[in-house]
Amino acid sequence: MTAKKPDSKKPAWSGRFSDVPSDELLAFGASLPIDRRMWQHDIAGSIAHAKMLARQNVLSDHEANAIVAGLQEIAADIEAGTFEWSLADEDVHMAIEHALIARIGDDGARLHTGRSRNDQVATDTRLYLKERTRDVGRAINALRRELIELAQQHNEVIVPGYTHLQKAQPISLAHYYLAYAQMFARDFRRFMAAHQAADVCPLGSAALAGTGYPLDRDYTARELGFSRVSINALDAVSDRDFLLDALYAAATCHIHLSRLCEEIILWTTEEFGYLQLSGRYSTGSSIMPQKKNADFAELIRGKTGRVIGDLNALLVIMKGLPLAYNKDMQEDKEPAFDALDTVEACLRVMTGMVAGLTVNTERMSTASTGGFMAATDLADYLVEKCNLPFRQAHEIVGSIVLTCERQGRTLQDLSIDELQGFFAGFGRDVEAALRIEKIVEARATAGGTAPKAIAVQLEQTKEVYNNDEQEIALI
Ligand code: ARG
Repeated sequence: MTAKKPDSKKPAWSGRFSDVPSDELLAFGASLPIDRRMWQHDIAGSIAHAKMLARQNVLSDHEANAIVAGLQEIAADIEAGTFEWSLADEDVHMAIEHALIARIGDDGARLHTGRSRNDQVATDTRLYLKERTRDVGRAINALRRELIELAQQHNEVIVPGYTHLQKAQPISLAHYYLAYAQMFARDFRRFMAAHQAADVCPLGSAALAGTGYPLDRDYTARELGFSRVSINALDAVSDRDFLLDALYAAATCHIHLSRLCEEIILWTTEEFGYLQLSGRYSTGSSIMPQKKNADFAELIRGKTGRVIGDLNALLVIMKGLPLAYNKDMQEDKEPAFDALDTVEACLRVMTGMVAGLTVNTERMSTASTGGFMAATDLADYLVEKCNLPFRQAHEIVGSIVLTCERQGRTLQDLSIDELQGFFAGFGRDVEAALRIEKIVEARATAGGTAPKAIAVQLEQTKEVYNNDEQEIALI
C-alpha cells in the first residue's frame, strides 16, 4: 500500500474531511496577508527544528539537510520577490511548508514532526517581537538623544511653565525638554520589558501538551537566540502577554508623543508664538495662503487613538479565551504590527520635527515676565524676609494680584510704596527677588529648574541614556 501524498491544493488538515470550506471562507480564515511578514522568523524556526530533529535521530541527517537547503532556497526566493504567495495556503506557516514539499517532496513533509502550528506561530511571533521592540527602542533613543541635545542648548532660555494651561511659574526650556526625556526613558524601559517577556521559546510545546518525540528544547531555543524555554506547554501556546506588554508600551509612548505634539501645536500658533516649525515639518492650506499648519504633529496626535485602539483590541480578543489556542488569537498580529509600525514611524517624525524647531527666545521671556508669574516668589519673599507663615503670605499676595487685575497692571508695575501698602515688611530688595532669572535660579532643589539643578538633571539623564544605549546594543 502506498501512503497518500499530501495534495498541495487542499488544506493541510483536509484528510479528516469529506467536504471543505468554500474559497470565500478559506480567504476569510486566512492570515497570510498579515503574517507573511514573519517569513524569516518562520524559516529560522523551521531550520532550528529540523536540525534538532536530526540531532535527536528523529530525522536522518540526509532528510534534515534537504529540509534546511529547501528552506534556504525558499528564503532566497521570498527575498528576491519571486516566491508565489497563495491565499489558499491560509498562513505563512502553511505557505512555506507547502512550498517546501513542492520543492523537495516527502522529506519536506517530515518537517512538522513533533511540532504544531500552535507552538510554531507563538515562536515566530516572539522572534518577530524581539526584533521590533529593539527597533522601537532604537527610535526612542534617537528622540531622547535629540531632547538631551536641545536641553543642553536651551538651559538659559526661560519659558512660562503651565498648570491647567494657565501660566504658573517661569522655567528653563531645558527643564521642559528634560521632562519629555524622562517620559521616553520610561518608554524605553517598557519596550525592553516587552522584549524580555518575548524572549522565551515555546517551540516544543507542540499543540498544547508537549510531544512524544525526544525533542531537545534547549537546543532549538539556543539556535534561535532565546534566553529561556517556556515552562508549561498549555500556557506557552496560549500566552500573548508579551504582545500586550509591547502594545501597552506603544500606547503609553504614543500618549507622550501626543502630549508633546499638543504643545508643539499650541506653541507654534500666532497666539503663543514660542516656537516655529521648520518648513519641512509643516504644510500650507489650499485656500488660506497665510496658514502654516502643524499637520504632522496633529497626525501623530491622531494616530495615538489608533495605537490605543490596537491595545484595546488585543485585550478584548484575549478576554475569556479558554485554554489553549483558539483561532481568535490569529487576530493578534494585525493590531500588534500596526501599533509597532505606527509608534516607530511617529518617533522618527517627532525626532526630526523637534530638531527643526526654531525657538523664539524673546517671545518666551516676555511671556514669562508679565502677568503674575512671580506671585509665588512674592509670597516666598514674605516667608523668608518677614518670617510670615506661607498661608498668610499667600493671602497677602492674593490680594495684591486681585488689585492688579482690577487695575489692569502686573506685579512688576507696582512701586515699593504700593507694595508696602499691602504689607509694611516689603523692602527695596523685593524688586531683585522678582526678576525672572532670580526666580528660576531660586528653584534649585534636586529636579528643579535652576540652571545648577538642570546641570545635575542633564548628567543624570545622560547617564541613564548611555546605559540604555549599551543595553540595546547587546540585544
Ligand atoms: N494562522 C494561525 C494564527 O496566526 C496559526 C496557528 C494556527 N493554529 C491552529 N491550530 N489553527 O494564529
